[in-house]
Amino acid sequence: MAAPVVDAEYLKEIEKARRDLRALISSKQCAPIMLRLAWHDAGTYDAKAKTGGPNGSIRNVEELNQSANNGLKIAVDLCEEVKAKHPKITYADLYQLAGIVAVEVTGGPSIDFVPGRKDSDASPDEGRLPDAEQGPSHLRNVFYRMGLSDRDIVALSGGHTLGRAHKDRSGFDGPWTKEPLKFDNSYFKELLKGETKGLLKLPTDKALIEDPKFRIYVEQYAKIMQHHTRSYQN
Ligand code: HEM
Repeated sequence: MAAPVVDAEYLKEIEKARRDLRALISSKQCAPIMLRLAWHDAGTYDAKAKTGGPNGSIRNVEELNQSANNGLKIAVDLCEEVKAKHPKITYADLYQLAGIVAVEVTGGPSIDFVPGRKDSDASPDEGRLPDAEQGPSHLRNVFYRMGLSDRDIVALSGGHTLGRAHKDRSGFDGPWTKEPLKFDNSYFKELLKGETKGLLKLPTDKALIEDPKFRIYVEQYAKIMQHHTRSYQN
């Protein structure tokens, strides 16, 4: 499929979709799964082969049915409402915009959005997303394949400040933080605290404090002051 033409009209549609996503995500309180959708569409990227990545392919049934994506049909279906109103916008752009809006409405930073991603129907083979049961070397294999660094691995894992695991989706259960609808650095603080009753730590979360290179970043992010805390208004 061709890349969208990013002209004034496309940018106008993006701003309208952004507003629709804000309303949808705040009314449905679905920020966490929208962020997970954006990440799972993007996280198949192979920087060398130039395959996978944020291309909307996660909407395909066979990709949605991959076990790593259990539950994400909910987010894909929610995005359809916005796509129907703004059909010009590619799925690839829409899903990444949904991730950005999810971070913003939960009190996180505003992230610049650069539109222009083209859609693909080609789903990558299963196994490109990280396996929660594994350790530091697996995380490095997966994220280095995307062209990302140790610091990126730790920063991105901070996405788990939002949301929770569901027994019937991943087999894991529970939230990582006490306020799973608030985007802050509490994920990193909880990692350093160790076990807290009722809160989850995946093996891949624990890997970030067990590996000395990762741990340095966890300590930095746990200390960062909250510059972004503000309440959300429609
Ligand atoms: C580092 C490797 C990662 C692993 C192994 C991993 C694994 C998981 C697992 C097992 C779940 C639970 C799914 C469920 O049962 O509903 C989950 C949820 C989630 N993940 Fe990750 N994840 C990783 C990285 C990321 C990244 C990079 C982001 C975003 C920046 C992210 C965002 C989320 C969010 C927001 C949820 C909560 C979804 C909800 O509440 O429905 N994860 N992840």
